[in-house]
Amino acid sequence: MIVVFGSINMDLVARVPRIARPGETVLSRRADSFFGGKGANQAVAAARIGQGRVTMVGAVGNDPFGAACLKNLEDNGIDVQSVRIADEPTGCAFITVDETGENAITVASGANMTLRSTDLLDNLLSKASALVLQMEVPLADSLDAAARARRAGVQVIWNFAPVPPFKERSAMAELLGATDVLVVNEHEALSIAEIIGASTGDDYLAAATVLARDFGPTCVVTAGARGAYAVSGDGGQIHAPARPITPVDTTGAGDTFVGVLASGLAEGLGIGPAMERACAAASLSCLTPGAQAGMPQKEALEHYLSQA
Ligand code: RIB
Ligand code: NA
Repeated sequence: MIVVFGSINMDLVARVPRIARPGETVLSRRADSFFGGKGANQAVAAARIGQGRVTMVGAVGNDPFGAACLKNLEDNGIDVQSVRIADEPTGCAFITVDETGENAITVASGANMTLRSTDLLDNLLSKASALVLQMEVPLADSLDAAARARRAGVQVIWNFAPVPPFKERSAMAELLGATDVLVVNEHEALSIAEIIGASTGDDYLAAATVLARDFGPTCVVTAGARGAYAVSGDGGQIHAPARPITPVDTTGAGDTFVGVLASGLAEGLGIGPAMERACAAASLSCLTPGAQAGMPQKEALEHYLSQA
């Protein structure tokens, strides 16, 4: 079983000719709502692909968005017993997507910030093979959940997105030290390396190498059209290429990658094959508007992978 400890949002999305600069107004024809939140997105991606169960640990508000988000998770076959109804509004993400499929996101966290490590029950951990985390719920509780998972022999897969605005190296070092598989994009890899004081310029693979070597996790870097790389502490590097696509909406592509990677690792796939599946799923997810709508089911992914 995969347990996701993380955020659940409703995404309000406007398509714009280009993303507004500070102080600027741009017009969009309309807003659409989509299910989102990095935690929920990763849970849905894993549930659509995997054979095993996926459990979501999270919090939503006592409001229509919360009810809809809960139903969506259930419709995707996810166990929602550990999603708490909180005294804050459901998390909401304000997203603009430009003509190239690129996005800018502001998250109003609401109920997500009420999530506590105690919401992750010990009897869940004892059945889990992997705990999947992101950075949209309280950090101290995520860290505690990670530490408990590791003590219980559960693999910790942590997507450091968005990167916490740390000033001190020690705080970042603590997070890295609690992680078995770190998943970041190129920019996040560079920001984390900068916080820990490594001078790697704009070389994200060098950054990943330092993180893996000095703090222990396998460091998986997603690199958009260039696919993904896994770097281990001994300097070993595995590359999984991505096939070229024309994206419609890249929102949630990283989450698709993380969810499918986690499901592959939980099924016992090696990191290379798991990354290859994750890259393919992430590509497919970009072809449909919204974070979750384009995430493939297992059959669709296998079909895509079988094409030359
Ligand atoms: O990673 C994409 C997600 O980030 C969106 O669904 C939005 O909710 C934000 O949390
Ligand atoms: Na999409």
